[in-house]
Amino acid sequence: MRLLITNIKQLCGIDTDKKRIAGKDMATLSCMENAWLLAEDGLIHSYGSMTDLPFRKVDQTYNADDRLVLPAWCDSHTHLVFAASREHEFVDRIKGLSYEEIARRGGGILNSAKKLNETSAGQLYDQSLERLHKVMATGTGAIEIKSGYGLNEEGELKMLKVIRKLKEKSPIPIKANFLAAHAYPIDYKENKEGYINLIIKQLLPKVAGEGLADYIDVFCEEGFFSVADTERILEAAAKYGLKPKIHANQLHYSGGVQVGVKHKAVSVDHLECVGDAEIEALRGSDTMPTLLPGAAFFLGMHYQPARKIIDAGLPVCLATDYNPGSCPSGNVPLLLTIACTQLKMTPEEAINAVTLNGAAAMELENELGTIKIGKKANLIITQKIPNFAHIPYDFGNNPVEKMVFSGKIA
Ligand code: NIG
Ligand code: FE
Repeated sequence: MRLLITNIKQLCGIDTDKKRIAGKDMATLSCMENAWLLAEDGLIHSYGSMTDLPFRKVDQTYNADDRLVLPAWCDSHTHLVFAASREHEFVDRIKGLSYEEIARRGGGILNSAKKLNETSAGQLYDQSLERLHKVMATGTGAIEIKSGYGLNEEGELKMLKVIRKLKEKSPIPIKANFLAAHAYPIDYKENKEGYINLIIKQLLPKVAGEGLADYIDVFCEEGFFSVADTERILEAAAKYGLKPKIHANQLHYSGGVQVGVKHKAVSVDHLECVGDAEIEALRGSDTMPTLLPGAAFFLGMHYQPARKIIDAGLPVCLATDYNPGSCPSGNVPLLLTIACTQLKMTPEEAINAVTLNGAAAMELENELGTIKIGKKANLIITQKIPNFAHIPYDFGNNPVEKMVFSGKIA
């Protein structure tokens, strides 16, 4: 199958041969004006200037007629599989309760766990597929999805099996992250050690044995899992070849960044609380600092210090954190607006953060995240917009006109 896209006003995110983009380099998004792109058998075959369009026999020509083409977004941190929304807590927070207070009262993650354990795998799959289609329609072309609302064997395996089915059925790459260490279930409130043992001795062998996860996650945070708990879980997971991608430094300077880097985490995510010590820990490591400003926005918390991280020469990745509690939106264009207006990232930095750096945060940087010959042709064809800065500027609107998945117009 050959798809030729012609008359592209701006072909954005052309590869610079980097595995990830860091520091000052994030300020540049390589583009070609007035371009064409040929996809063959699902991959980017070639691209060039319209002044130099080679004649080729193709199966389909799509006239982009002055629209932009970008690599699809790579959303490297989501909790897209969940059973029910949580508007009630949203209203409680408006009235003054904090996210932590709601969690202490048995709401939050425990509320989602209760709902998930009452929902059948079939219902969970149907709802999750609908959400997946919704985020794909706003430009997402690869995604990571976590478990973490089961908090017992049956529930965690149910979630991971739903993610596996989504992987099988979906045209976009999906990575599964095992997050049983998201909160302590009610039955283990007084027996935290017991729950950690359950994760390490009972759940991990099953999850790994069935190949249900690509990564291990821990919510390393005061009141949730300590640095010592995190280390034990990461060490156990390493024996099964599961690399960490963890929740770190959302609510406090929790030591999560340092423990993640120490255990060679692919990414450390959230990072509302990042100071000099965290920056020093990240320097020289391969761990991707991933910011989730949608959660800070929705919880009304202070934002992640993106400038400080970029100005230190580090890469920044952006992800949605799509989940029913702290960010019930998987909309990447909105995330870009928040990153630009609140984190003071430029459109170039924000787009790099959610394309190549998003791919790197899922170890998909050789397959996705830039316009490069041989990479998967998962692309965004925008609406008629003047330039890529219009995407975060035009907030609340969907910039996508058409998506291309594996070289096919969706
Ligand atoms: O990334 N912080 C921990 N976990 C999720 C939220 C989970 C929830 O509130 O349901 C997050 O924000
Ligand atoms: Fe999260």
